[in-house]
Amino acid sequence: MSEPVTLRVENTVAVISIENPPVNALSHAVRSGLAEKIQSAISDDAVKAIVLTAEGRTFPAGADVREFGRPRETPILSQVCDLLESSPKPTIAAVHGNALGGGFELALACHYRVVLRSAKLGLPEVKLGVLPGGGGTQRVPRIVGAAAALDLMLTGKPISAQKALDLGLVDQMAEADVADAAMAMARNVIADGSKTRPTRERVEGLQDAVGFANAIAARREKKKNDPQPSVAEIINCVEAAQILPFEAGLAKERAAFDECETGPEATAMRHAFFAERRAVKVPELKGATLREVKLIGVVGAGTMGAGIAIACLDAGFPVVLVERDQDGLERGIQRIVANYDKSVAKGRIDAATGEERLSRLTGTTKMQDLAPVDLIIEAVFEDEQVKRNVFAQLDAVMKPGGILATNTSYLDIDALAATISRPQDVVGYHFFSPAHIMKLLEVVVGGKTDSNVVATGFELARKLRKVPVRAGVADGFIGNRVLAAYRLAADFMLEDGATPAQIDAAMRAYGFPIGPYQVLDMAGLDISWARRKRLAATRAPEDRYVAIGDKICEQGWFGQKAGRGYYIHDQDGGPVENPDVLAIVEEERRLQGIAPRSFSEQEIQERCLFAMANEGARLVSEGVALRPSDVDVVLLYGYGFPRHRGGPMMAADQAGLLTVKNALTNWQVEEPRFWAPSPLFDELIKNGKKFGDL
Ligand code: NAI
Repeated sequence: MSEPVTLRVENTVAVISIENPPVNALSHAVRSGLAEKIQSAISDDAVKAIVLTAEGRTFPAGADVREFGRPRETPILSQVCDLLESSPKPTIAAVHGNALGGGFELALACHYRVVLRSAKLGLPEVKLGVLPGGGGTQRVPRIVGAAAALDLMLTGKPISAQKALDLGLVDQMAEADVADAAMAMARNVIADGSKTRPTRERVEGLQDAVGFANAIAARREKKKNDPQPSVAEIINCVEAAQILPFEAGLAKERAAFDECETGPEATAMRHAFFAERRAVKVPELKGATLREVKLIGVVGAGTMGAGIAIACLDAGFPVVLVERDQDGLERGIQRIVANYDKSVAKGRIDAATGEERLSRLTGTTKMQDLAPVDLIIEAVFEDEQVKRNVFAQLDAVMKPGGILATNTSYLDIDALAATISRPQDVVGYHFFSPAHIMKLLEVVVGGKTDSNVVATGFELARKLRKVPVRAGVADGFIGNRVLAAYRLAADFMLEDGATPAQIDAAMRAYGFPIGPYQVLDMAGLDISWARRKRLAATRAPEDRYVAIGDKICEQGWFGQKAGRGYYIHDQDGGPVENPDVLAIVEEERRLQGIAPRSFSEQEIQERCLFAMANEGARLVSEGVALRPSDVDVVLLYGYGFPRHRGGPMMAADQAGLLTVKNALTNWQVEEPRFWAPSPLFDELIKNGKKFGDL
């Protein structure tokens, strides 16, 4: 393999170039090459200035993911940065593409920076539970002050070249060839006496001492309950930039980085990062030929259909939207128009973009208008008979080779597919609400689904910027099956002595944005009520059944939309506990002869989590989920599972599988079937393995 870092001297300028495709990640070989070439450029008397550049599509876009979580071999990045910064000859970074993380830090350690107009710069480490470890926390605030530095590091969002220029983080913008522009700058700097300008000596960001301290205090207050240690550490390190000498600040940054990197949160976030990338590796993709999707049809313009149409329009597809009557169609189109109006009003898109997207939408009440469509996504009522009727109509009009995807939440896709003449074209594309925002897409593979249809689903997900996960046919697929277990565990505790507010608070404390009863109130209690009714006939008589939800629904208290559910929503100042629900709960306890007991926050969290992990393990054993990490991706992207916990399977790994299995076994005396540990626990435990090893 050719060297990942090369050095050439043009007149008196040394050009050090990184070439480590695809994104010039800062692997050990790159860091070593950089250290060596920087040193030889410094010791070459013919060299008066050094330009640092990268081949291919980008300046280094970050660390090498394969080295994540492992001890770094020297030279570590901060040593390379130190060499660049302490160089007696001026160093100039020529930045194009995405200079992220360590890549941006490398540029920051240079004395001058030239960036291509299209470049993006960012410090996204917080998204992996760590912080910039190459001096970023010390150098950025010295240039831009605490507020802008913290925005960059706490959001992890990249900024444009223009913004970087405005902030003073870079010195010059290049319109075309950034390496040429950097060479020109090098010649000017040489002509100007070859002045170096180490970032560590810059003070403009530190001059407003009070403003700096206030920005720190404000972020610290805002983030005081953030469970991610790296968030607090970023704030501490930026504060250190003001109160400690540079070297001491760097040492603090290094210690904080090491501490965060080996902690459970960063471990979980790295798992989430890799799990998402693994999820797209599914057997159907091997050797598959994608079906061409140019025109998309959506049937049903309700909550989901409208959201799915928006997602497709946003991705550049023309969409034919079908409703059963004119009123329904107008309501659906109005939802879509309102969405774009809101996006324009909030400045997310400009008016012309909104209009262009809407111009690709055709509304109709005639199924025949779907004849030219390549892919139809059905999102009509969750009712088997309604869906069967719609499938029959679609079978009659769809072109040969067209894909028929259903957005059903629970229904048996094989049973639906069996009712039409082309079961091989039927698949589940299960979106989550709001469909244009939520990232998850479960691609549900039926017994007869053609591999090409599955592969096309993964390709569509990529175009819609969704995170796809393969699921097999099962009631609720992966996500809603795990959700059902979560809710059942919560309902048992509710009937045994906890309150909805206590359970919700415990799960929020764990990191969920809202608790299970808040979710029910938001989504509508009638949806899960309908599912319970549908499954009533299949329920084993010995299984414990909690009827509290049914009793609430019988009152018409369907949640937020009805003003009442587990909480009362029609009062000023937000939802409050519903005393009538508490009365229903008490009455149910009395009927069941249950003496209420108290539950600690930890017990509530463990029962909910272990129930989810156990259901996830069952899904893996049944082949509904390909691997435990897919269960995690589903929960992370579709159900608000806190990212710093990595998903229920990761949480079980971190708790220890033996601990989880023992807890499940203990609870089995209460509900033998529900709490029965999946056999996967024993299989893994006896081999000294974890879910993460599968
Ligand atoms: P919705 O009730 O808001 O919308 C359904 C729409 O389908 C209505 O506008 C209705 O007029 C239309 N429709 C009914 N029969 C039709 C026909 N024969 N031809 C054309 N249009 C027809 O329901 P929602 O919530 O959008 O759900 C739709 C599907 O998506 C269901 O299968 C549901 O289980 C699933 N789903 C729902 C989620 C949610 O959070 N609401 C999440 C994921 C999936």
